[in-house]
Amino acid sequence: MSRQGLVLEKVVLLGRTFEEYARYFGLDACALQNQRVLDVAAGVSSFCAEANARGIRTTAFDQIYQLSPEAIQARCEPDLEAVTRNIALAKTYKWDFYKSPEGMRELRQRAYQSFLADYRTLGDQRYVAGSLPHLPFRDREFDVTLVSYLLFVYDDHFDYAFHKASLIEIMRVTANEARCYPIVTFEAQRSRHLATLQTDPDLKHFIFELVPTDFEFLIGSNYFLRIRRR
Ligand SMILES: C[S@@+](CC[C@H](N)C(=O)[O-])C[C@H]1O[C@@H](n2cnc3c(N)ncnc32)[C@H](O)[C@@H]1O
Repeated sequence: MSRQGLVLEKVVLLGRTFEEYARYFGLDACALQNQRVLDVAAGVSSFCAEANARGIRTTAFDQIYQLSPEAIQARCEPDLEAVTRNIALAKTYKWDFYKSPEGMRELRQRAYQSFLADYRTLGDQRYVAGSLPHLPFRDREFDVTLVSYLLFVYDDHFDYAFHKASLIEIMRVTANEARCYPIVTFEAQRSRHLATLQTDPDLKHFIFELVPTDFEFLIGSNYFLRIRRR
């Protein structure tokens, strides 16, 4: 079967804004005021910068934070350019929110510019380098952990073992709940790893809940996955 979706050879360096996270994770900014938030695979998203500016104590984690701001900046525009060009050809998106690839590009550009400004000044305080499936944090150090656009959506890049180990580690450092988005692939198919996780006997102490939202960009992406302990 020919592919209809965005074809990506690698995990791209694209960042989303606070507004986008809030929409697709169903976040209530007021309720987060007293919470410690971890953004896993945060990349060049401005969520961490914007959340802290709103008084939400947020830490960002990503493998790219071992790089200098200049090295990260050099990768932002080429990745954004390639995605903006290719996404126009994909048949797996709804454009109600962004209106056009150019509209999406403007938000992504704003996100990485805000991220870079924050990373340059507070890089060593809020941005922690490392690679899943390991997290360099204490047990239950955060109340809420978010994972946007790494798990499930790239399910042809990361196998089941990676997903399972990553989620166990995420729940180790999370006191209340983790949220993952999206749970569909770039082909707009629900990730094959989801059902396996839900029925894995090693994970029976977790509750996996699909929570509907009113935000849909990839077709079928109007759900996030909430994970809690039983
Ligand atoms: C598509 S970006 C998503 C960025 C952000 N979460 C957002 O939604 O705007 C994916 C990010 O995952 C990061 N990444 C890929 N593999 C990783 C791993 N094993 N551990 C931590 N981060 C990883 C990449 O560096 C990249 O920044």
